[in-house]
Amino acid sequence: MQDTLETGARAGGKLKDKVAIVTGAGGGFGEGIARIFAEEGAKVAVLDIRAEAAEKVAAAIGHGAISVVADVGDKASVDAAVADVAARLGAPDIVVNNAGWTHRNQPMLEIDEETFERVYRINVKSIYLMAMATVPLMKAKGGGTIINIGSVAGIRPRPGLTWYNGSKGAVNTLSQSMAVELAPDRIRVNCICPVLGETGLLESFMGQPDTPENRARFLTTIPLGRLSRPDDIGYAALYLASPEASLLTGVLLPVDGGRTI
Ligand SMILES: NC(=O)c1ccc[n+]([C@@H]2O[C@H](COP(=O)([O-])OP(=O)(O)OC[C@H]3O[C@@H](n4cnc5c(N)ncnc54)[C@H](O)[C@@H]3O)[C@@H](O)[C@H]2O)c1
Repeated sequence: MQDTLETGARAGGKLKDKVAIVTGAGGGFGEGIARIFAEEGAKVAVLDIRAEAAEKVAAAIGHGAISVVADVGDKASVDAAVADVAARLGAPDIVVNNAGWTHRNQPMLEIDEETFERVYRINVKSIYLMAMATVPLMKAKGGGTIINIGSVAGIRPRPGLTWYNGSKGAVNTLSQSMAVELAPDRIRVNCICPVLGETGLLESFMGQPDTPENRARFLTTIPLGRLSRPDDIGYAALYLASPEASLLTGVLLPVDGGRTI
């Protein structure tokens, strides 16, 4: 009990003893999701391609969180990482496919082929590879939940981000398709669609320096008048992963201050 109080964990947290893998958790939204899951009692694997960042986040959030280094676009790397998590924490109950990347905001014809392929590799192929590695483990365990981080970009696309927008449209749609197909296995699949957020990707999305004047132009397009933050996405993910959401599957949940209205 003492330890619980010191670390900030809530006794009987909503995710008590659940094993969760959060990809891209070395910073940004993923870090927020991993921290909030750990505070609610989950055993969290902080997966990222940046080893130092993953280690730092795992150490900071505590509660037995571990760091795992993997490239979510590489099959061998994903398979090894999932096997490592299963050996150290157990088979996953919760998988959050959060790792993502964008080309800089610019005219669609200026994006080269290599950049296009990188966007789809990190944003879309990653979900295929993570599903291949984790769904059989969830089925064997009797169920689980998958949360994909899509985007409002796949619902109400902004110009200059065409190829990224398309990749997030794919994430949104495949989340719904996975939900239907995996429902008989008691695996729920939902998708969070954040609005522009205060993370490392912000300047790439804006295509200009993050100055108060440039930010103001984007804020006028968000009715609630602010950008999203890691906690906003973390609490939405907590709800979708929790037992309270046991009848929710195939949901595209905009966390967007009204941007998609
Ligand atoms: N920030 C926004 O405005 C915004 C809006 C909507 C959706 N999203 C989505 O949210 C998710 C998280 O993005 P963020 O804004 O927190 O960005 P971020 O750059 O702060 O964090 C992304 C993390 O993913 C990791 N990563 C990148 N490539 C990887 C790979 N191949 N394998 C493993 N890890 C990898 C990075 O190291 C980083 O820690 C992404 O899917 C992004 O598309 C972001």
